[in-house]
Parts: sequence; structure tokens; C-alpha cells
Amino acid sequence: MAFPYPVDHAIPLFLAPMAGVSESPFRRLCRAWGADVVVTEFLSAEGIRRENEATLSKLRFGADERTIGVQIFGAEPAAMQDAAALVTDVFQPEFIDINFGCPVKKVVRRNGGSGCLKDLDLVQEIIRAVIRGTHLPVTCKIRSGWSEEMRDPVKIALRCQDAGVKAIALHPRTRTQMYTGHAHWDEIAAVKAALSIPVIGNGDIKTAEDAARMRRETGCDGVMIARGSFGQPWIFKQARALIDGQPMPATPGVEERFQIALSHARMVMEYEADLIGAALEFRKHLGWYVKGLPNSADLRKKLHTVNSFGEVEGIFAEYLASGWMNEVEAA
Ligand SMILES: Cc1cc2nc3c(=O)[nH]c(=O)nc-3n(C[C@H](O)[C@H](O)[C@H](O)COP(=O)(O)O)c2cc1C
Repeated sequence: MAFPYPVDHAIPLFLAPMAGVSESPFRRLCRAWGADVVVTEFLSAEGIRRENEATLSKLRFGADERTIGVQIFGAEPAAMQDAAALVTDVFQPEFIDINFGCPVKKVVRRNGGSGCLKDLDLVQEIIRAVIRGTHLPVTCKIRSGWSEEMRDPVKIALRCQDAGVKAIALHPRTRTQMYTGHAHWDEIAAVKAALSIPVIGNGDIKTAEDAARMRRETGCDGVMIARGSFGQPWIFKQARALIDGQPMPATPGVEERFQIALSHARMVMEYEADLIGAALEFRKHLGWYVKGLPNSADLRKKLHTVNSFGEVEGIFAEYLASGWMNEVEAA
């Protein structure tokens, strides 16, 4: 199935759009570890249209992030069209993605994100408006429906395809489910069988084995990973190998993990102007990088209080010197 933007592999791997996580440095890191395509976090069409500084600053990306999509949300077709036009002219990503999946109250209250799923005529209007605003391919990301009663991913996906999107990512939960229960992968298979455009599967991939299993069980054209990339960007390299029928590369040991975390920190330092704010924001990544290590509760506690990037190297060095890592390397 042909994707509407350049991809390096027949079954491309996607870093999912994630507010506060899929920012430029993390996207670069995941590209380097084998994600074929990355997507920005969702950005408000109103914010883009009004050239809100904070919103526009999130649109900066480097050449090494391509292939990249910019994700926008909003329930006002005219605003979505203007936002798509501005993003196209100024930032020139490979594609524009529309968010029809976000479940958070602040967004759905104004019918944005998954709020749109209650009104499929509006979904189509928005898609057509965005297409009018850009010459780039337009894609979208959906949930399976607003509520259990309205659950109908095939119908939603077909309406999106009819309106002109060139690929679709499905997170098969309803809005009401938020992040509870489990992602219904059988719905990815059903949407794949019904559509003629590429279908990207998403939801509950925690390991590289899960990624390969989703591909096998659903026949999806691409695999999108969100939370499974937290603190383990190498999941993309491992998933690539398994999907291609190769042996899975080993999971990095503790020292290498720390090196990867530090290289991620350096990328953040290059990208962000406010280094103190960025260090505080980076605490969550540090927590994810050390998850599962022996005595990691203590290590996490220390990392969760860092106020500067300079402190991180010392904390890692102290942990390595303490000998805790021998336990995990031996395990
Ligand atoms: C912290 C966080 C932020 C997210 N932000 C977005 C977003 O901006 N746009 C979007 O389409 N989905 C967003 N999502 C949903 C994910 O892209 C994905 O659909 C969901 O987490 C299921 O995939 P997973 O099980 O691999 O995590 C977000 C998820 C998380 C955990």
C-alpha cells in the first residue's frame, strides 16, 4: 500500500503524536533509532492561525526529523484550513495530520479531537477544509468512536477516506474509554480490510514483539508506537528487525541506556532556550529511562529533583559506581 510521503520501509514505523513528549529532540532520537515517520504533538488550529508564539515554537523541526507530519486540531473548518495553509507555507512538513482522537476535556468541550467523532459530517467538512488549505497530503488519526454506543471505526474511517485523507491511524479505543481497557486490534484489521488507503495501527504496543504481533494479526500497513517509546527509543530498531523477520537486537545495558538518556538531554539543550524549564520537563524522561533498574526507586527520586542537566551525569555515575547495575547485567 503506497504511503503519500517518503518512507524507508514497506511497513513503516511511526512515533505517535504525543503532547509534551513527541517534541523535536525526542523525535530526532526516535528517527535515529529507526522510526520511519514522526508526528508533532497536536497543535491548536486557532493558535497557529493567530500566530501564537508558544504554538509556533512547537512547529520548529530539523531536517533529520523528516519524514514528519504536523498534527493540528480544531472544530472550526475555516481555522483548520488557515492553519494548514500557514504550516504548509512556513514549515513545509511532508504531511498534515488531523487529530480526531484527543480525549481530554479541554479539547472535546469545543468539539475538537475526538469530540468531532460525534458528528461525522463535521469530520468530513474539516478534512475537506484542510485539503483546500494545503497541497500536502492530509492524513488523520481517529479513535473507534465517541462512546461504546457510537463505536463504529469502519464507518468513521470510510467517511474520512471519502473526504480525501491519504492515510489513517486508528487507536481502537473510544473516547469514553480514555486509556482504560485495551485497544481492540481486531478493529484495526476490520478498518484495514475496508479501506483502500494505508491504515496505521496504534495502541498498547509495549514491546517490539507487540509491534510485530500487531502487524501480523491486523495486516496494518504501518505501526505507530506512543507510550512504548518512553525511555526506550530503541524499541523502533527492535521492532524493525522483528517485522523484517530478523533476530531482535539486544536491549541496551544500563551504561548504554544512560548514554542514550544523556544524548537525548544534549539534544534538548541544543533545542530549548529556557534550560531550567527544559530540565524540569526532562525529569519525566529520566524517570522512564531508569524504570525497571534495580534500586530504581531511589535513583528516580534523585532524578525527579534535578534542576539542571549538569546534575544528571553525576547521578548516573554515582549509580554505576554503586554496583547496582551488576545485578541487572547478570540477570
Ligand atoms: C502523554 C500523551 C500525549 C498524547 N498526545 C497526543 C496528541 O497530541 N495527539 C494524538 O493524536 N494523540 C495523542 N496521544 C495518544 C497517542 O498518540 C496514542 O494514540 C495512545 O497513547 C495509544 O497508543 P499507545 O498505547 O502506544 O500509547 C497522547 C498519548 C499520551 C500518552
